[in-house]
Amino acid sequence: MGTVSTEAWVLHGATRPREQAQLIRETYTFPDITPNEVLVKPLYGCLEANMLHACQRAPVDICRERNEDTVVVGNAGVVVIERVGSAVTRVHEGETCIVFGNGVWDEQGYPIKIMGYDAPGTMGVLAKSMKLHEQQLIRIPAGTSHSLQQWAAFSLRYISAWANWRVAYECWQSQMRGVPPEQTIVCAWGGGVSFAQLALASRLGCRTMMVCSNPERMKLLRQAGIESIDRTQFGGDDFETEFLEAIAQRTDGKGVSIFIDNIGTPVHQITLKALARQGVVTTCGWKLGMRTHVARAIECLNRHIHVHTHYARYEEGLDAVRFAEEQAWMPPPADEVWTWDEIPAMFREYAEGRITSYFPIFAINA
Ligand SMILES: NC(=O)c1ccc[n+]([C@@H]2O[C@H](COP(=O)([O-])OP(=O)(O)OC[C@H]3O[C@@H](n4cnc5c(N)ncnc54)[C@H](OP(=O)(O)O)[C@@H]3O)[C@@H](O)[C@H]2O)c1
Repeated sequence: MGTVSTEAWVLHGATRPREQAQLIRETYTFPDITPNEVLVKPLYGCLEANMLHACQRAPVDICRERNEDTVVVGNAGVVVIERVGSAVTRVHEGETCIVFGNGVWDEQGYPIKIMGYDAPGTMGVLAKSMKLHEQQLIRIPAGTSHSLQQWAAFSLRYISAWANWRVAYECWQSQMRGVPPEQTIVCAWGGGVSFAQLALASRLGCRTMMVCSNPERMKLLRQAGIESIDRTQFGGDDFETEFLEAIAQRTDGKGVSIFIDNIGTPVHQITLKALARQGVVTTCGWKLGMRTHVARAIECLNRHIHVHTHYARYEEGLDAVRFAEEQAWMPPPADEVWTWDEIPAMFREYAEGRITSYFPIFAINA
C-alpha cells in the first residue's frame, strides 16, 4: 500500500516524565486509504479541550497509550472529500462534511475511543491532508444557512451536548414525569458544550442559566436567552456559600433540576449541593479534574441521578445535524479565525484562559 505525505502540526511522545508537548510543524506521512476510508482536505478546525489535554499529557499520555511516537490531534472540523475508498457508500468525492469523532465504538455504536485522540492509528485535522473512516464524516446539509466555521464549531461540542442532553433529560423525566419543561431549571458551569446544551434546553422550553466569568460571554448568554451567573462576584473563601445562596434565590429555594458539570473536581461538591430533590447531575467532561467525592447516602436520600456520557453514536450525530439545520441550533459566528501559522499561539492563549470564545476556530486549507 502507498503512503500520503502532508504538512501537519505534530505531537511527539515524551522524552522525559511529565514533559508537556509542543506542536511541531513537519511533514507527516500516513498509509493511503483502505476501502472504507476517505482522503480529505480539512478546511476549518475548532480547538477542543481534548487537544489541550493531549498536549498536557493529562489525564493520559496519548502517544504512550497508542504506542505511537507521533500523533496528529484534532477531532472537530469541516473537511472536503478528495478521494473515497472502493467500499465507501455514505459519502462522495467533492462533498463537504463535519468530522464525527467516534474512533472505536462498541456493539451499540457508543464510542470507546475518540479519533484524533486516543484511538490508535487515527489522525486529526491539524494536517493539510488527512484520512478517516467513512463513518467519521457527516455531510453538511445542502444549502445550509450556516457558515463552515459554525459547522466546525458544531462538530464535537454540539454533538456531545446533544447526546448528553438526551440521557440527562430522560433521567429527569423518569422521576418527574408530570413536571413541564418551563418548570425544569437547567444550570451549567461554563464551556462550549454547556452552552450548546443550554441552547437545546431553552428550545425545549426549560429555564436555563449558566455560570460565567467574562463580560463578553455574558453578552452572548443574554442574546441566547440564557441567564448568566457571574462567578467573579462571589468571595474566594465563601464561594460555595455565596454561590448556593444565589442558586437558592433564583430557584425559590428548590435548587437546580439538571446541572451540567463538565468542570469536575473543584466544583463537583457545589454542583451536588445546588441540585433539587430528584435532580440530575450530568457530565461528559472533566476540564479541571476527573476525580470527585460522593456522599452516597445523601445522593440516595435526595434521589439524585448521576449521568455520565462520552460523545455519541453515529445516528445521534445525524439527528443532531438535522435538528441543527431545522432549528438553527448553532454556535455563534466566529469573531476571530486563527491562521495555520498561528495554531501554537492559539493553544497557548487557550491554555492561559485568554480566549473569550467558547469555540476557537482555526483555518487549515481555507
Ligand atoms: N466526552 C465528550 O464527549 C466531550 C466532548 C467535548 C468536551 N468534553 C470535555 O468537557 C470539558 C469541557 O469542555 P468544553 O469544551 O465545554 O469547555 P471549554 O469550552 O474549554 O470551557 C471551559 C470553561 O470552564 C470554565 N471555567 C474555567 N475555570 C473554572 C473554574 N475554576 N470554575 C468554574 N468554571 C471554570 C470557563 O468558563 P467561565 O470562566 O466563563 O466561567 C470556560 O468557559 C473538557 O474536559 C472537555 O475535554 C468531553
